[in-house]
Amino acid sequence: MFSLKMLPVLLALHEQLSGAFPVPSESPEEKNIKIVQDYLEKFYQLPKYRHPSERKKSASVIVEKLKEMQRFFGLNVTGKQDEETLKTMQKPRCGVPDSGNFMLTPGHPKWKHTNLTYRIINQTTNLTNDVVERYIEEAFQLWKNASSLNITRVLQGEADIKIAFFQRDHGDNSPFDGPNGILAHAFQPGPGIGGDVHFDAEEMWTNTSKDYNLYLVAAHEFGHSLGLSHSTDPGALMYPTYSFHEPSTYVLPQDDINGIQAIYGPADRPVQPTGPTTPTACDPRLTFDAVTTLRGEILFFKDKYFWRKHPQVRRVELNFISLFWPTLPDGIQAAYEDFYRDVVIVFKGKQYWALSGYDIQQGYPKDILNYGFPSSVHAIDAAASYRGKTYFFVNNQFWRYDDQRQSMDPGYPKSIASTFQGIGSRVDAVFQRDDVFFFFSGPIHYAFDFRYQRIAKVERNNRWLNCRYG
Ligand SMILES: *[C@@H]1O[C@H](CO)[C@@H](O)[C@H](O)[C@H]1NC(C)=O
Ligand SMILES: *[C@@H]1O[C@H](CO)[C@@H](O)[C@H](O)[C@H]1NC(C)=O
Ligand SMILES: *[C@@H]1O[C@H](CO)[C@@H](O)[C@H](O)[C@H]1NC(C)=O
Ligand SMILES: *[C@@H]1O[C@H](CO)[C@@H](O)[C@H](O)[C@H]1NC(C)=O
Ligand SMILES: *[C@@H]1O[C@H](CO)[C@@H](O)[C@H](O)[C@H]1NC(C)=O
Ligand SMILES: *[C@@H]1O[C@H](CO)[C@@H](O)[C@H](O)[C@H]1NC(C)=O
Ligand SMILES: *[C@@H]1O[C@H](CO)[C@@H](O)[C@H](O)[C@H]1NC(C)=O
Ligand SMILES: [Zn+2]
Ligand SMILES: [Zn+2]
Repeated sequence: MFSLKMLPVLLALHEQLSGAFPVPSESPEEKNIKIVQDYLEKFYQLPKYRHPSERKKSASVIVEKLKEMQRFFGLNVTGKQDEETLKTMQKPRCGVPDSGNFMLTPGHPKWKHTNLTYRIINQTTNLTNDVVERYIEEAFQLWKNASSLNITRVLQGEADIKIAFFQRDHGDNSPFDGPNGILAHAFQPGPGIGGDVHFDAEEMWTNTSKDYNLYLVAAHEFGHSLGLSHSTDPGALMYPTYSFHEPSTYVLPQDDINGIQAIYGPADRPVQPTGPTTPTACDPRLTFDAVTTLRGEILFFKDKYFWRKHPQVRRVELNFISLFWPTLPDGIQAAYEDFYRDVVIVFKGKQYWALSGYDIQQGYPKDILNYGFPSSVHAIDAAASYRGKTYFFVNNQFWRYDDQRQSMDPGYPKSIASTFQGIGSRVDAVFQRDDVFFFFSGPIHYAFDFRYQRIAKVERNNRWLNCRYG
């Protein structure tokens, strides 16, 4: 579905597939140049250069615009069209530019009145009218809850925010591009077309995790209608690229609450709403929910996010869990890699799931009773696989499971202190590599060398995420 979901094996598969369809005439190099130019023209106000000579002269402008784009997305600011930059440019996204002004007049536009109206001009045939109407109402509700705005629907006549589905060129100088790419756009507050929201009618609009969930895209566009521009916070609703979240449990992130309240003031209620904040890799108090290896990478789970650490490149990438595994819950509590089955097992409460690449295997979630835990165990804190055994940590104890016999070894649980001396009485997360168990407990981790039965190193967690200080 997305070009961005790229675990190593799947990436290889993808390349093979695309290699099977030869694209004549245009070389990959030319194609990439075109992708970069188009993107910078649309979203970073790169002037349109028609002639090759003009384009040559514009090389330094392109480098500057590339750097601006890379800074916005938190990429390595190289000014070059490297792989990561191209990957980001191919993600489905909003059509509103990231830099410069809105699609209309400059300034910091806002509605002068707070009792706004919206009107649904037409709908998509992909969803029933009921679903579309409910989604749109609830998407506005996200913003209403966080501010002093009152936004109500009108069925006819003038409305501040008009909502419609359009194809390709539709007379506002911002043509849509067919399936994928640009999903929708919106205009900043103002008269006439101001505040209006246009959805690309050629997308497949859904009320599921399939591309593209109308609720999330609508909620993002309404942010623009109310005067917000794009956020650089990858966890914000106003981040320019699309990512899926379960609508029924979606809460407006704090970054967006701050944004809407900066324009319209706080909500009309005794206690201000709060939302999730995006974890930052270099926070010295950083803790993890679960950590596991996956085909040579390391995944660090936290709340609704996980960081991916690639083995060779010194690069760490923050993603939503839902981007890779849309039906997995947030707040994974333990995870381990089963090397023989080539799956990652993740735990939350009494349930667990088997992940094979970015597929969730059939028949999951299952109950942890299958492992032979007593019914008094309600959650696993941490898990790691080592030499045919899986170690499960629960409070100050651990169990050892035999992967081949598929049962718990006798004599367990044991106290953590009996085998892993110095680790403390509770672990948040653990993973194993080269005979070393890395135990995460609060903001620090212990490297426990199993062969010598001793702690080799104690460091802050953020060291794993390439933070040198703190
Ligand atoms: C919104 O409030 C203004 C001023 O109180 C009023 O003139 C206007 O009619 C109201 N609009 C709606 C749709 O209620
Ligand atoms: C979704 O809507 C698009 C555009 O109207 C249409 O091409 C497509 O066939 C629809 N798909 C389904 C499954 O309704
Ligand atoms: C999704 O939409 C279909 C009809 O379009 C409806 O039957 C179904 O209940 C909806 N599901 C949710 C979760 O809204
Ligand atoms: C708005 O706030 C109410 C009350 O706190 C809550 O029940 C509702 O789920 C919120 N709606 C959205 C869309 O966030
Ligand atoms: C919101 O506006 C509508 C229409 O103008 C009005 O009927 C309703 O009472 C307003 N609600 C609040 C909470 O102000
Ligand atoms: C929605 O309405 C607009 C304005 O009337 C029209 O141009 C557009 O073609 C309509 N879209 C669909 C998908 O019918
Ligand atoms: C960033 O780019 C520089 C120059 O190309 C390169 O040396 C460095 O390894 C890159 N860093 C990361 C984290 O990719
Ligand atoms: Zn946008
Ligand atoms: Zn438009």
